[in-house]
Amino acid sequence: MWKKCFTIMGYKSQLVCVHVRCCSGPALPVHRITALQAVHSWSQHFQEKGVSEPELSSHYITAHVLGAKTIESVKKETLSELLSPEDTQQIWRLCAKRLQRLPVQYIIKEWDFRDLTLRMKVPVFIPRPETEELVEIVLSDFKNQTGSLSILEVGCGSGAISLSLLKSLPQLTAVALDQSEDAVNLTKENALSLGLQDRLQLHHLDIFKDAEAVVDHCGGVSAVVSNPPYLFTEDMSSLQPEILCFEDPAALDGGEDGLTVIRQVLILASRILQNNGRLYLEVDPRHPPLIQRWVELHLEELRYVETKHDFNNRARFCILQKKTNKQELQDLD
Ligand SMILES: C[S@@+](CC[C@H](N)C(=O)[O-])C[C@H]1O[C@@H](n2cnc3c(N)ncnc32)[C@H](O)[C@@H]1O
Repeated sequence: MWKKCFTIMGYKSQLVCVHVRCCSGPALPVHRITALQAVHSWSQHFQEKGVSEPELSSHYITAHVLGAKTIESVKKETLSELLSPEDTQQIWRLCAKRLQRLPVQYIIKEWDFRDLTLRMKVPVFIPRPETEELVEIVLSDFKNQTGSLSILEVGCGSGAISLSLLKSLPQLTAVALDQSEDAVNLTKENALSLGLQDRLQLHHLDIFKDAEAVVDHCGGVSAVVSNPPYLFTEDMSSLQPEILCFEDPAALDGGEDGLTVIRQVLILASRILQNNGRLYLEVDPRHPPLIQRWVELHLEELRYVETKHDFNNRARFCILQKKTNKQELQDLD
């Protein structure tokens, strides 16, 4: 994993990853301590070592070892009781991983996305809160539609988007694909544990190399949804070590202008969407006008509908629509 990070991300990230590997944690306590003491000790240590979200990290790990999701859901008495030597060792072992900047989600091996708890595995992309908003946008468009619905998700990662939509919409079927075999396997594992596998088709495909196979599998879908890699390559080396050293760079790096994968998603969407079917994209705030212009110049089958903003009021979501043949002809006049 380290080697992969080094070779792909270059010299600067090598230094970042080597640096974070060298940190050591406080010694395992000789005497028994309470959960609260463990929480405080690690929060302080994370803070001193510059680990992001020091308190939250210590809370999540301790709660996980005590069999809970959050520290708030652990009984007050339990937090004040002495920990068993096994639990103490486990907290120390997991917190030592956090000290090396492994994201909490990979340490506790699960994360919540909307109403789902998903399994997480290095190096598959950890779903971000903004993507919950992308799902809400699709759901609000779908809520007035009757009859069967179908989507293609490009770049499913852990399956967050497709599985969330399948859970909320019983009439939906989904095709999800990813260039990463780890991602496809993780989506499969999550689909099985949520009982959503029957309405999900999964494919290990790369939308560049396997474009024709994508079209074969997905002709005439109601919608295409994607949170593609969209970072500008030049921004990659300034990512936090948590991201830089552990998440798959192919999930993040969108090329020089961040649009490499997005352009291919647009081309495929123009071929596989049914008339009036929509494409929903999560993008960088600099992208919406660039995408609109590119579509106007290159894809007469698609119409740019709207840009939507995230909870920080940043332009983060693009909605496009497949024109009907009549609309295309009118545009030519
Ligand atoms: C930002 S992640 C999104 C993952 C998931 N949809 C989510 O929102 O949590 C982008 C995903 O696209 C996949 N991907 C990148 N390039 C691809 C390509 N050429 N073909 C198919 N999938 C690709 C990556 O492997 C990664 O899983």
